[in-house]
Formats: sequence, structure tokens, C-alpha cells
Amino acid sequence: MKIALIPGDGIGPEIINQAVKVLDAVSRRHNVKFSFEEVLMGGVAIDKTGVPLPEETMDICKNSDAVLLGAVGGDEWDNLPGHLRPEAGLLGLRKGLGAFANLRPAILFPQLKNASTLKPEVLGDGLDIMVIRELTGGLYFGEKGREGKGTEERAWDTLVYTYPEIERIARVGFELAMKRGKRLMSVDKANILESSRLWREVVTKIAKDYEEVALSHMYVDNAAMQLIRNPRQFDVIVTENMFGDILSDAASMLTGSLGMLPSASLGEGTPGIYEPIHGSAPQIAGQDKANPIATIMSVSMMLRHSFDMEEGALAIERAVSKVLDKGYRTEDIMENSKELVGTNKMGDLIVNEI
Ligand code: IPM
Ligand code: MG
Repeated sequence: MKIALIPGDGIGPEIINQAVKVLDAVSRRHNVKFSFEEVLMGGVAIDKTGVPLPEETMDICKNSDAVLLGAVGGDEWDNLPGHLRPEAGLLGLRKGLGAFANLRPAILFPQLKNASTLKPEVLGDGLDIMVIRELTGGLYFGEKGREGKGTEERAWDTLVYTYPEIERIARVGFELAMKRGKRLMSVDKANILESSRLWREVVTKIAKDYEEVALSHMYVDNAAMQLIRNPRQFDVIVTENMFGDILSDAASMLTGSLGMLPSASLGEGTPGIYEPIHGSAPQIAGQDKANPIATIMSVSMMLRHSFDMEEGALAIERAVSKVLDKGYRTEDIMENSKELVGTNKMGDLIVNEI
């Protein structure tokens, strides 16, 4: 299996190192071979090549079996024009690989119940929500621009969806719901946005092919509130690109920390992209403080979705759970009486369990 590695910026390289150690452990235990090719994207790519997503990176990613990504972005590149910022590299990669379906599971490890900012009684005996974020359309990719000068200046972004774009992401939602609790919540803003009205109509039409799935709709503002009020009402959520960006950050906090949530971005017949949902956290970069679990859990998703290695995926998930059982915590999920460990140590502990 050929894996393109994109360490990126900030804490990216440190957490990718832990993920590679975990892949090596899986390789030894399950007798498979992974080969890695490291490529540039984001701020480091801007510094070395002048662009956030060099052509070579795109070529290598396209010719790999999967892409593992750390994080991109940082203060030093914040004042560049939009198309030259590190984030533009990430959007270009997602678009270039046709990775339209972004799966962001929010699963609460019972060991971390107290690390969540919600009361234990709201979390009940666990949480298992799958947020499916449309990733190559909507507000992130619509026409945008700026014109005029000074107080006359104006700027705009547009939210556009076509029928086929909505249909294919809706199908991902229904298919996943079939494999889980058979409940799908489509989140939109159909009381205001025309694109949301089309979204709701298409999702409702596709529902006819999935009679076993209970489909409901919710406005995005209400969904944000319900996630915090009663998160256990959700099974699978499917939503527009930016709504999904926002709601998945909120969902992550239910599980204790943004540092715990992995993601998979999948297309049709293209290599999947696996990355933590958190950012590059430049304020703690290079200090051995970052939580590598989101990236390690992204590796588990890679084994499951790209390599059909369910056993390997489970081995990683069990290893993470054991390490948490034994009381080891990185700073973001630290509680009294637990043992604080750094990025590297956390990676080693998980490797040992595998
Ligand atoms: C995410 C991130 C990215 C996004 C940024 C870094 C461009 O917030 O993956 O959620 O907005 O998609
Ligand atoms: Mg985000």
C-alpha cells in the first residue's frame, strides 16, 4: 500500500510521526507492507516552492493508495491572498482528488466522559454520531470576489449546489445510516437559502430508495443547539460544506477534545484523504504537547475505508482505548489523578498495545 504523507505545518509533523509508528506496528502485526512518500503542502510548501499545493504533490497523491495529512496553516502565512494561503492547498487537494464525502465520527470514549464540557447525564452511556460533511461544493467553492476601494469596497462568496452533488452526498448518508442506527438527519437552512431548499428536495427524493432509514430535517442553527442540548438524538448527520465544518467542531467537543476526532474524505475511485479534524495549533508546535490520537484514529479509518483491513482498524481502536484505560492523557484531555504524557510517549504507548 502506497501512502502519501503530508505532515504540513505546526503540530502536523509531530502527529504524523506517531501515525507512521502506528502504521509500522500494524504492518508487523498484520503482515502487510506500507510504503511512504512525504510531500509538501501548506505553509512549508509556500516557503519552499512559492505555492501551497505543488504539482508534484498532487501527482504523488493521485498515484497513491491513500493520503495521510497532518494539518496546515499558521500566522506567518495569514496575510497572503486567499489563493496562496496554506488552506488553499488543502481545498485544492480535496477538490483534485474528488473527495466529496467527509466522514467525521464523533465517538465518546467512556474513559473521557469527564473531559467533555457537557454534564455526564447529557452524555448518558456514550455518544456515537457520524457527521457527513459535503466537501467539494457549497460555500467553500462558489464564486467569490472583491471589488471597489475603501468604504466602497464589497466582497462576496456564493453557496451553490447542483442536483447531482446533493444526490451523491445524500446517498453516502443513507448508505451509512443503513449500516448504523438507520436514522439520517439532513441539516440545512431551507427557511432562508435557496440552495438549502434544493438540498432538502433532493434528499427527500433520494429517501424513497431507502425506506428503512428514518429521514428528518433540521435547520442548522437548531442543529447547533440540539448537539449541545441532547446529542444522543443524532445518528448520522449529512450537511453542506461550511455547516459541516462548524457542526463537526461542535460535535468534537462533546467527546472531550478536538484532539480526538479523525476524518476520512472519500471520492469515487480516487485515494481517500485521512486527517484529524483539528488544525495546526502553531502555539504548541514542536513542544511535544499535541494529542496524536485524532491522527492515529484517522489511520484506523484509512485501514477500514481504503484498505479493507477491518482487523487492523479494530486493533488501533482497541489500543487507544487500552491506553486511556491505563490513565494516560495528553494535556488537552488531562484530568486529576491521570498521568500526563507528551505526543511521542502517547504514540509509543499506543504502538505497544498494538
Ligand atoms: C477542517 C478545517 C479546514 C476547513 C481549514 C483548515 C481549511 O477547518 O478541515 O475542518 O475549513 O475545511
Ligand atoms: Mg474545521
